[in-house]
Amino acid sequence: MMDNGRIDIASIDDLKTAAQKLLDMAGERRVFAFDAPMGAGKTTLIKALCECLGVREYVTSPTFAIINEYQSDTRPVFHFDLYRLRNLNEALDIGIEDYLDSGEYCFIEWPDVVNDFLPKETLRVQIKVNEDNSRTVILQ
Ligand SMILES: Nc1ncnc2c1ncn2[C@@H]1O[C@H](COP(=O)(O)OP(=O)(O)O)[C@@H](O)[C@H]1O
Ligand SMILES: [Mg+2]
Repeated sequence: MMDNGRIDIASIDDLKTAAQKLLDMAGERRVFAFDAPMGAGKTTLIKALCECLGVREYVTSPTFAIINEYQSDTRPVFHFDLYRLRNLNEALDIGIEDYLDSGEYCFIEWPDVVNDFLPKETLRVQIKVNEDNSRTVILQ
């Protein structure tokens, strides 16, 4: 169930297909922690995931809001950017626990501050930028 998986994204044109594959590989898991450096393509991939889920709103990094909530066809999708949080307490203050327990999709950029707090079934998503600018997504 927790087998590693890899998805290659040759170019931006591949994103939608890659995002759908990622959702399929995630199965029942709803909490995704994106562990990748600045510029790797976290927000871009989350935008593609949201499109696959039927979100028609503008998806952008919630750097200032910390949490963005989008509406998919039937359910909410939560997108976090925890870059500015300094510790777990600050994450608890914004109510992270309720979001994680909601059973809705939670896509988390910069999850470090909540690492020890995330559900054990959290899908860990690493993004590697290759020399030819393609991306390799590694799931754990
Ligand atoms: N799969 C990809 N292939 C090529 N370029 C990409 C890919 N994903 C993202 N990029 C480009 O990389 C840059 C940074 O993407 P972004 O999603 O903002 O990164 P992050 O959220 O990890 O900081 C953007 O210019 C974006 O167009
Ligand atoms: Mg980003």
